[in-house]
Amino acid sequence: MKSASPAERRQAKLLLPEFGAYTPGILRVEVKTAESLKAHDETWGTSDSNVWQSDYSLGHHSRKLSKVMGDIGTTRGRSDRQIMLGRVAGLLHDVGKLDEACRIYRVKRELTPEERAEIDKHAGISGDYVLKQMSDVRPEDRIFLADVHPIVRYHHAPWLIRDPELRELGFDLKIADIFVSMMEHRHRPGLSQFQAVEALEEVVLRMMKDATLGKFSLEIQASMQTIMNKYGVDRNVIIIK
Ligand SMILES: [Fe+2]
Ligand SMILES: [Fe+2]
Repeated sequence: MKSASPAERRQAKLLLPEFGAYTPGILRVEVKTAESLKAHDETWGTSDSNVWQSDYSLGHHSRKLSKVMGDIGTTRGRSDRQIMLGRVAGLLHDVGKLDEACRIYRVKRELTPEERAEIDKHAGISGDYVLKQMSDVRPEDRIFLADVHPIVRYHHAPWLIRDPELRELGFDLKIADIFVSMMEHRHRPGLSQFQAVEALEEVVLRMMKDATLGKFSLEIQASMQTIMNKYGVDRNVIIIK
């Protein structure tokens, strides 16, 4: 595996708090994506203090999700490559929201069910973005991105991923996405980390009604418990107003 040049790594460090792509091609994709997310955050900002998205930004959400994917991967004893797949997928999963087709996303209020259905298209657009990156990277990076693609494309419906290994990473991403979103201030105050874990357990229980997801859900629950222990979450933390 070739490593990135010092200049590429310096640039990555500025944009990605915990970058870690192991080939220059993937690192460049990560940096390019991080730059677009940063530009988006600067345009749409987090300036309104009391409205939807007040403390939420696409760049922050994506970087945070990437980090949580690293934690989950480590907790679950995944290989370096699997952890990297999860982290890159975490950074890229919502990049489709930058597309014109998702401009409704930029309104600062809670979305109607119709608008929500509209914005759900971003998963497919994010998948297309991953495919587009494949044209100018080397063969080994192309193989890597080909594995990132289904995780990103189906991050709302990971059970549609055919490959079992990638499907597992897709479930990690879905659960991590819910977990991270619950702690953000969007159209309602964010939960504390402890509350998010508790709320997540309810989500997981709901998912368990589907027998095929049951075993996996229990594993996720265990992973989240480990993460909660790791962060030393204070039980007395309450909803941030
Ligand atoms: Fe999404
Ligand atoms: Fe997301």
